[in-house]
Amino acid sequence: MDLFEASANSIKAVTDFAGRSVHSQSHHWCTPPQYVAAVKRVFGGEIELDPCSNPESVVNAKCEFMLPEIDGLAQEWNFPSIYVNPPYGADRARGTTIRDWFAKCVASRTEYGAQVIALVPVATNTTHWKKYVFGAADAVCFLYDTRLRFLVNGNTDNKGAPMACAMVYWGDDFSAFESVFNAFGAVVSLETLKTAPKNTRKKQQPREMFLFDFNGIKPERKRAAAG
Ligand SMILES: C[S@@+](CC[C@H](N)C(=O)[O-])C[C@H]1O[C@@H](n2cnc3c(N)ncnc32)[C@H](O)[C@@H]1O
Repeated sequence: MDLFEASANSIKAVTDFAGRSVHSQSHHWCTPPQYVAAVKRVFGGEIELDPCSNPESVVNAKCEFMLPEIDGLAQEWNFPSIYVNPPYGADRARGTTIRDWFAKCVASRTEYGAQVIALVPVATNTTHWKKYVFGAADAVCFLYDTRLRFLVNGNTDNKGAPMACAMVYWGDDFSAFESVFNAFGAVVSLETLKTAPKNTRKKQQPREMFLFDFNGIKPERKRAAAG
């Protein structure tokens, strides 16, 4: 279930990616002020676009896409600086997932030369990290927060999120990103992965397994493509 699916008036348990339960009174898990300030410092003072904002957010980008009027994923992200703290769960109504938000980050960087920072859960074994972060992003800051206290209902007085979070950076000013985010976590340049042969990042070797031949009697040993 989506971390942000709990209704505004009732406390209800929702399950996160690590299989733990989280209690939330709001579906708006906003970026806490210290991270908004840090992102603004990297961008030289202003955030031009927040493509998934809400009325409680303190990001205050110059342009905000907000449901229900504007679906941020359906817009062009042609802005010089973009900050994204996307919904972490699946949006069944629109058939989208966090993967679509990662894809938009990369597209806005490659098509419009945008500087993009995204606050996302650390999930290095997922397809979206392998495709849109490793080999595509320029840096990542693995945040030190044991439990990142998002801004919920206007305050950060909560237990915090149980998953590790990171700021991913698609942009050409690594030193600006590093100098600001060093204070918040372990900053790693991903530059070398951009030139690394792709097969060192993802490909798995075919593995041998038994496949049953239902027309015959005995199981047959065959090579099968790794899943
Ligand atoms: C984790 S909150 C972040 C809010 C804000 N960007 C911030 O960091 O403070 C994600 C927000 O994305 C909004 N959202 C979800 N799907 C969206 C879409 N397709 N277009 C625009 N906003 C969307 C939700 O309403 C939710 O408030």
